[in-house]
Amino acid sequence: MAAAAGRCVCRLPLVTRAVRRPPVTSRGVIRPLGAAAAVTDRHRPPVGLSPLSGGGPGRRYSVQAAGQPAPLHQVVKAVNNRTSGCVDLVWNFGSVTPFPYVWLRDSCLCPDCFHPTTLSRSLRIDQLQVDIEPQSVQNDGAAQQLVVTWPDGHVSRYPHQWLRERSFAKRDVNARRKQLDGPKTVLWDRATMDRHLLRVDYDRLVGGDLATLHDALHHLIVYGLVLVRKAPTDFGAVEEIGETLGHVRPTHYGKTFRVASKVDANNLAYTANELAPHMDLTYYEYMPGVQMLHCISQHIGDGGESIFSDSFHVAEVIRARRPDLFHLLATVPFEFADIGEEAESRSRCRFHKIHERTMFCMDEDGNITQVATNNPVRSYRLNVPLELVKPMYEGLRMFNDLCRHPDNQLTFKMDNGDVAVFNNRRVTHGRLGFTVTEDSQRTLEGGYVDWDDIMCRYRIVTDLLRERP
Ligand SMILES: [Fe+2]
Ligand SMILES: [Zn+2]
Repeated sequence: MAAAAGRCVCRLPLVTRAVRRPPVTSRGVIRPLGAAAAVTDRHRPPVGLSPLSGGGPGRRYSVQAAGQPAPLHQVVKAVNNRTSGCVDLVWNFGSVTPFPYVWLRDSCLCPDCFHPTTLSRSLRIDQLQVDIEPQSVQNDGAAQQLVVTWPDGHVSRYPHQWLRERSFAKRDVNARRKQLDGPKTVLWDRATMDRHLLRVDYDRLVGGDLATLHDALHHLIVYGLVLVRKAPTDFGAVEEIGETLGHVRPTHYGKTFRVASKVDANNLAYTANELAPHMDLTYYEYMPGVQMLHCISQHIGDGGESIFSDSFHVAEVIRARRPDLFHLLATVPFEFADIGEEAESRSRCRFHKIHERTMFCMDEDGNITQVATNNPVRSYRLNVPLELVKPMYEGLRMFNDLCRHPDNQLTFKMDNGDVAVFNNRRVTHGRLGFTVTEDSQRTLEGGYVDWDDIMCRYRIVTDLLRERP
């Protein structure tokens, strides 16, 4: 499916405006063509976003999904329940939601307790009395606020709707957690990705077309792979795309890196060898979230095709067929290392990176959140008990073979000006080998963006599109 610009917008969950902490003013701006597409002043949360946004590896980030505008919730009665240590709010829909005293005091929204321009809590934890009890509790129906007066005379006011969206009811908590996961991930094999690979034009993406940017970000979250087309065949396009999707993340290979075969290569990518399915920079504790690879000059002749596969899909196949190997790969780490010198980087540096990690990472529900594999930089030190050595290799082999299976592997030769943008913690990439000749040089430029910045941009763009008349 090549989603038309703008089509996805209507499918996306809306960002709820009612959850924001009052007072909030919109600070989202769009930079003109060629610049970062959407940024917030001083990184403040954009209008409509709650402070619930989470972090961590994989895709544990999202917007607040509201769907259809929620019916107005109003409190008909506030009961000071000293037995439970809560203020019980009785809503016009009949439900009762308790709010603990200490949480209410901690969540006071007055200018002394909540800083109105940084949108953050200024009340210090040492100012908080954990066993505090209200002096009085009042429901102000006209202002639709709960009013709590504390023993020292401090008065806190909470809008009903604000409280509703912070309910401690298990159902509400679960719903909020679900929203944090964002658009649902769709696992794919080759046939699925043949139908769903999104192609967007470079000029529209970096030129400030919000619908195109939104489509690209949404597909990156859901499928983990987007193809940008018709980029200029010059170095620099990767940085433009990176600053449009988020912020380019430098590594010891520089702000961006160039992939071309060269003598005395310090990385296998800089040879003409076949590159097996892998993720980049597995030796970083914080592996880059998204990678961009821009084909500036494609190899003429046989070879040089790019290969991609969905490692989340592959991991699920392993879990179904060989739960023993899945468990092993999810619990026993491999070590990765990258040691050398990068002479061409502006920072010209020696590097000595080592990190140990499991191939599969899961959340508390067992969902795959991150996969890491990279054969060339997998360390020769395997820090496992002897009896696990052979099964570890079995697991590696099974993972590799499934990634390379024709049913799973997407293979295509990038044209000059194509930029593959993919989830570096999910989608394996590689290339078929090729032969370098005098009149045939294969040159790519690559770069990285982290998920924090991608999701940040996604929330802002979603919100800006929703605010359009
Ligand atoms: Fe790579
Ligand atoms: Zn206060």
